[in-house]
Amino acid sequence: MAGSGGREHALAWKLAQSRLITHEGGTLYATPGNPGIAHHAELVALDLTDHAAVIRFCEDKRIGLVVIGPEAPLVDGLGDSLRAEGVPVFGPSKAAAQLEGSKGFTKDLCERTGIPTAGYVRTTSLDEAKAALDRFVSPYVLKADGLAAGKGVVIAETRQDAEEALADMFGGAFGEAGAEVVIEEFMVGEEASFFAITDGATIVPFGSAQDHKRVGEGDTGPNTGGMGAYSPAPVLTPLLEGEVIERIIAPTVRAMANEGMPYSGVLYAGLMLTAQGPKLIEYNCRFGDPECQVLMMRLEGDLGDLLLACAENRLARHPMPHFSADTALTVVMAAEGYPGTPKKGGHIGGIDQAEATGAKVFHAGTSLDADGGLISTGGRVLNVTARGANATEAQAAAYRAVDALDFPDGFCRRDIGWREVAREKDAG
Ligand code: AMP
Ligand code: GLY
Repeated sequence: MAGSGGREHALAWKLAQSRLITHEGGTLYATPGNPGIAHHAELVALDLTDHAAVIRFCEDKRIGLVVIGPEAPLVDGLGDSLRAEGVPVFGPSKAAAQLEGSKGFTKDLCERTGIPTAGYVRTTSLDEAKAALDRFVSPYVLKADGLAAGKGVVIAETRQDAEEALADMFGGAFGEAGAEVVIEEFMVGEEASFFAITDGATIVPFGSAQDHKRVGEGDTGPNTGGMGAYSPAPVLTPLLEGEVIERIIAPTVRAMANEGMPYSGVLYAGLMLTAQGPKLIEYNCRFGDPECQVLMMRLEGDLGDLLLACAENRLARHPMPHFSADTALTVVMAAEGYPGTPKKGGHIGGIDQAEATGAKVFHAGTSLDADGGLISTGGRVLNVTARGANATEAQAAAYRAVDALDFPDGFCRRDIGWREVAREKDAG
């Protein structure tokens, strides 16, 4: 397994419980991993951009499945390099990963195939982009075309703010990712995430979630990679979920296959539930972080078997995955300063106490100091994850565990799940 965040800790935790490891003599390796992942996997130091080195390692150890967690190595074609050597990979090819790697690519695909999404214009120069603003009204949605670690989207209230943001983007604020900018119509509605696993032909629904992107309580302040999440997202009713598969996911999978770049892996759809029905905000070519953590808490059955069936194009003959009816909720403990420059080196204690409450603490940005003590090394540091019969109970359980932690340089939002908790209260 490739990656080192909370998403990968959750994947490693679940993969370590797979029959492939527990009964078939397999070994789980993780690169580069983190101290939490080290509880479930043997860590190896590989440079994921050095495809030849990754291939050598896989051949040496006779690796039967590679699971690629983050988007960067997928967009960089690590999956293609491994597949070319006969190594089964869970994760899309470079061509298919364009669904995340290029917002313009995805918008064009939606337009070609009639997938509901916001109206848009692709622009490649500041002058062209400024002129294109005429075709939109405030608020203006501006997106750097390429990967920008979740920071490439600006929503500008005034024309002047929009023009300044465009100048920043074309001026290199997001590097290469901003060489092209997509301008979009603003959509109104509630956001939800939907996941599907596909081998390019068969589509397996893999649950829903909602996350909290803003750093502050009440969904205020700057955007982050996500301060918490819960699954399922009941706003995505079975009826809406059917519509999402039929009108968004299936046409995408079909079009990618027809155009010679079949999509294999997890397809993560960011959705806006508008008055006209669900519309696609964006695709990601990997699991969400921290959405993966709550999906893994609810998944019943063997993750390794499922991901291997996907990698080997056998999903049509594989049993459907099952999820617990419980709600799972995760609270991100971040280091002071996040999403700006986070304070590094803060001591972390109390994980055993937190887990004694029944929660699971996934590591994101942690490492060990010279004395073997756990310290923070990233913005998002821990994902405190718990289950309950509904969002209210899962939330209470997660914060009981948060309160058992000892991480003086950390902070978290105290209102993760508020929308769903409020709805449960209203429903009595
Ligand atoms: P993205 O990285 O494309 O998911 O965008 C980040 C966030 O910006 C989304 O989660 C939405 O909250 C918001 N956003 C993106 N596109 C739109 C849109 N067309 N209309 C309204 N909000 C949007
Ligand atoms: N939590 C949002 C993402 O993984 O993109």
